[in-house]
Amino acid sequence: MDIDEVQLRPVREADLAFLGRFAVEPGLIGPNWYGFRDAGRDRRRFESDGWLGEEDGRLIVAVGDQTAGFLSWGPTGHGAGRYRSIGIVLLPEWRGRGVGSRAQLLLCRYLFTHTPVHRIEATTQPENAAEQRALQKIGFQQEGVLRGAEFRDGEWRDIVVFGLLRGDLPAE
Ligand SMILES: CC(C)(COP(=O)(O)OP(=O)(O)OC[C@H]1O[C@@H](n2cnc3c(N)ncnc32)[C@H](O)[C@@H]1OP(=O)(O)O)[C@@H](O)C(=O)NCCC(=O)NCCS
Repeated sequence: MDIDEVQLRPVREADLAFLGRFAVEPGLIGPNWYGFRDAGRDRRRFESDGWLGEEDGRLIVAVGDQTAGFLSWGPTGHGAGRYRSIGIVLLPEWRGRGVGSRAQLLLCRYLFTHTPVHRIEATTQPENAAEQRALQKIGFQQEGVLRGAEFRDGEWRDIVVFGLLRGDLPAE
């Protein structure tokens, strides 16, 4: 696989079955499995705005003509200083091949190019080495640990916070 084949594109109607799988297949979404969700939500949201809102959205991670996963972003922050939080999941067969690092780099470039946001945040689990490394590779810095911030798999667990400012992103 050539890493330049990794591209982001808007969600299409044909992707809805793919997206719905992450809501109902235990563990397919990786460590962010919090139980079954309403798989119909993806269709409703797609029909309302194609998953491209003013402050939040989703894009498909494509490798050539294959669908590898999806990325999402949404608003977060304090007071008037709103910024974005991002998330990603790839199908298991696409993990560990450089796609996740590349896709998150492309999303950060996209958000810094098309919105005035100054900061992008990503949170992950302390044991999620792949995501932590992927974030660090594209310039995110680890900023701290939120203790007992996530209820998952029967327990309250810690969350690691990473941040990227405009100037931190590597040049193209
Ligand atoms: C997390 C995820 C997006 C990372 O994307 P990826 O394509 O698998 O990661 P990459 O191949 O770009 O690898 C990034 C770095 O992590 C390392 N890495 C990859 N898989 C790893 C693993 N299982 N354990 C430790 N390190 C790993 C790679 O070697 C690479 O570092 P390097 O360039 O220094 O060698 C992907 O694995 C995934 O979708 N996982 C399930 C969902 C998930 O955890 N999402 C994030 C939730 S917060």
